[in-house]
Amino acid sequence: MEATTFVLFGATGDLAKRKIYPALFNLFIDQKLPQFFSVIGLGRRELSNKAFQSNVEQSLHMFSRREATDPIIVEQFLSAFRYSVLDVGHKEDYQTLLQLIEQQEQELQVAPNRMFYLSVGPEFFETITANIHESGLGSTDGWRRLVIEKPFGHDLQSARELNKNLSKAFTEDEIFRIDHYLGKPMVQKLEVLQKSNPVLKALWDNRYIANVQITANEIVGVEERAGYYDHVGAVRDMFQNHMLQLLMMLTIHLPNNSTVDNVRYKKKLVMDSLEALRKEDVGSHVIRGQYAAGTIQGEPVVGYTSEPNIAATSRNDTFIAAKLQIDDYFWRGVPFYIRTGKRMKDKSTRIVIEFKEPLKQSGANDDNALPNLLVFEISPNEGIVLQLNSRDPLHKGEFKPLNIDFHESQGNVPEAYENLICDALQGDSTFFAHWDEVELSWQWVQPILEAYEENTVPLHLYEAGTYGPLESDELLKQDGYHWWFDE
Ligand code: BG6
Repeated sequence: MEATTFVLFGATGDLAKRKIYPALFNLFIDQKLPQFFSVIGLGRRELSNKAFQSNVEQSLHMFSRREATDPIIVEQFLSAFRYSVLDVGHKEDYQTLLQLIEQQEQELQVAPNRMFYLSVGPEFFETITANIHESGLGSTDGWRRLVIEKPFGHDLQSARELNKNLSKAFTEDEIFRIDHYLGKPMVQKLEVLQKSNPVLKALWDNRYIANVQITANEIVGVEERAGYYDHVGAVRDMFQNHMLQLLMMLTIHLPNNSTVDNVRYKKKLVMDSLEALRKEDVGSHVIRGQYAAGTIQGEPVVGYTSEPNIAATSRNDTFIAAKLQIDDYFWRGVPFYIRTGKRMKDKSTRIVIEFKEPLKQSGANDDNALPNLLVFEISPNEGIVLQLNSRDPLHKGEFKPLNIDFHESQGNVPEAYENLICDALQGDSTFFAHWDEVELSWQWVQPILEAYEENTVPLHLYEAGTYGPLESDELLKQDGYHWWFDE
């Protein structure tokens, strides 16, 4: 891998501590970092290199997948870390940074490849990229890349505006937009599972699939993020990005030798084929929910509007369920039900594919037969379950479901951030969100945002510790289905 200077804005922040340093450490152990690799951490506070390294070390002890117990390895890893003070609005700080980077590149005699990782609030994206551009930090003979995290805008218009401004400093190929769901190992497997297994490939369309259910349930509530979450809600926080990315990754049909461009193109095709939602149909296709007080795993929890720093009158959404249709050759007629919510009964992200029932269709007596299900469990456990029908040996003539169940052993699986940072270092943007799909995702949710804003759709309260409002069950019931695994 080519020599790289990893320039980290927001080096003393929470994301860096919890995710980025542990990910870099695990990549280091796996020898997946470039031989010449240096990290320049940036923050507003004064901090010595030593103190910065010690902060990084602490984060490894707290959050790393692998233990940081070997002092020699830890020392080697930390020796790549330097710190520099930077106030994002101070142009002179960028000059100091440029000198530091150039000096390092010369001392080590390595190619000037620079990766700018913005682990800061989205309100700083435009200022930082403009300053990178103007200061000359981005003018290098090597490559330069920009890594940013969602949210990419607040609605369609602001997303376009943001992208226009980012494009003044970086080309689309140089922008790596992290959607950490795309880094989850099971999500990265979907494409291979589908295209390299004839038993799946042959069934991957509307001839065999009755419906698809994509769920991301969370136990946590708003946590300490009231200021952020109360302005975005479930639709912007999870649905517009993570959930639509899962939909795309599941439904793209790729050629055997697919490239980044194929993936990008096919994802765009899916989003282009998604039946547009009219504002007047939001009420019938989308369920907006907000958690009320309840009990989760034996613990009483307060309702959303009683959470610290949330107004008692807030109508923010903490749950969304929606029905979507893809109008293309493969998926026409297959409903996709997508839901995500906070303060649900359990933590689980999964995709359930329900197959059509040939016996039922032919009118045969199959009282005990269940539909075939293929379940991709994405997190917290990673697995694949296939539900088949078999014969019950004890009750002749009756069907009995049989489950083929595979689960990955925990602990061995790299975390999403390891996969994504490694890919970004290699310049592989397969599992990043590309502008086209980001724009089309905003376009699809825009009528929902407007209907919420104008309050033309109901806000259903649901008890914390349940699977959301009953209206979300109705969404499927009217088509003759139900959510699987709500037990
Ligand atoms: C983040 C959201 O993007 O994803 C959070 O901002 C959410 O609100 C989190 O809790 C869920 O991620 P995961 O990996 O725990 O499913």
